[in-house]
Amino acid sequence: MNRQFHRCFASTSTMFLWALFLVALTASYLSFQSFVDSGSRYFSASWGGIQWEKQVRNSAQIHRSGGMLVLVTGSAGFVGTHVALALKKRGDGVVGLDNFNNYYDPSLKMARKALLNSHGIFVVEGDINDAKLLAKLFDTVAFTHVMHLAAQAGVRYAMENPHSYVHSNIAGLVTLLEACKSANPQPSIVWASSSSVYGLNEKVPFSESDRTDQPASLYAATKKAGEEITHTYNHIYGLSITGLRFFTVYGPWGRPDMAYFSFTRNILQGKPITVYRGKNHVDLARDFTYIDDVVKGCLGSLDTSGKSTGSGGKKRGPAPYRVFNLGNTSPVTVPKLVNILERHLKMKAKKKIIEMPGNGDVPFTHANISAAQKAFGYRPTTDLQTGLKKFVRWYLQYYGYHHGKRVN
Ligand SMILES: NC(=O)c1ccc[n+]([C@@H]2O[C@H](COP(=O)([O-])OP(=O)(O)OC[C@H]3O[C@@H](n4cnc5c(N)ncnc54)[C@H](O)[C@@H]3O)[C@@H](O)[C@H]2O)c1
Repeated sequence: MNRQFHRCFASTSTMFLWALFLVALTASYLSFQSFVDSGSRYFSASWGGIQWEKQVRNSAQIHRSGGMLVLVTGSAGFVGTHVALALKKRGDGVVGLDNFNNYYDPSLKMARKALLNSHGIFVVEGDINDAKLLAKLFDTVAFTHVMHLAAQAGVRYAMENPHSYVHSNIAGLVTLLEACKSANPQPSIVWASSSSVYGLNEKVPFSESDRTDQPASLYAATKKAGEEITHTYNHIYGLSITGLRFFTVYGPWGRPDMAYFSFTRNILQGKPITVYRGKNHVDLARDFTYIDDVVKGCLGSLDTSGKSTGSGGKKRGPAPYRVFNLGNTSPVTVPKLVNILERHLKMKAKKKIIEMPGNGDVPFTHANISAAQKAFGYRPTTDLQTGLKKFVRWYLQYYGYHHGKRVN
């Protein structure tokens, strides 16, 4: 009996040891797996780490009393670069965020990034759909404001790649708003809507109270959706929201997909340019707005945005919800734009004039800016002639093209 008892005891303790061994093995496998998971996320992401955090904090340093801490999304873009520089110059803390997508030549975005770096602005490489990255950014810096300019821009490209508009202008916007709503303190948000929301509206000039429920392109529809989505976050979570309807912004470091930019390139290279005409041979017209005027409008909006009222994801009181036109109030026809470029470039354009296809473009835009004027003294001061002169000077310096030949 004694022997049997011993044998039984021995086998129970062996089983117990085996069970213990198996539990330990499973536990170490699971912890190894989670290490691999977090490690691969960490190593595959282009953000994170002590050095990265240091760069973010340095970039966010404020150099004026009462300065803001601003996260600028789309900072390697045209408007984002100019706004980030202007904020930094006046002493605000600025951190940029951009995914450097290839909608147009990414090397131009990299050059803008280098320009920002040289002014002490760090541009985080990442997507506004990356909720973990956004949470990390808000953990690292208590942003007081978000200047949201990241988007899929361009009216015609929406027929080619519709999903990129949903990805950045809808899904990305919601991810960003979720991060802002949960941040403590909640930042105030100023973001870029577009004059395209006026769509088929024919009442001129376009006022903020005019109807915007007839978009002519998917781009316009996503911007309009953005206005409704931001309203919801203002209403439920107390986020301070200002939406800016930009009217055809142009200038140095501009966007290669826009007409004034591609016309310049083609004229210099001796290639033809396509000039669209509306129905009944009516010329298309745009309320071209110079970048420095738009930047002043962005800074004015940030300065007067008022505070978000929520915390811990809960609204504590009503917060501002505003929408402003940022235009120039003097539309210019496209043939006139071509004339000005010809004069500045001292070259004749080879024009191909064709009727505008149904690709989402609208025949004209014209802003009423009295609301922005009243709220923060917005007053554009650069006419198209002067603004294009500055653009052409930059273009020739940057690309080094002279009469179609590359000289450097
Ligand atoms: N330039 C204009 O005439 C004009 C007119 C009306 C509205 N807007 C709006 O103003 C804003 C800025 O326009 P822009 O002319 O500077 O365009 P842009 O394309 O030069 O800048 C947008 C930047 O956002 C980045 N981006 C896009 N999707 C992103 C994402 N998911 N995550 C992170 N970064 C992303 C791009 O890489 C780009 O650098 C946009 O919202 C645009 O829709 C511009």
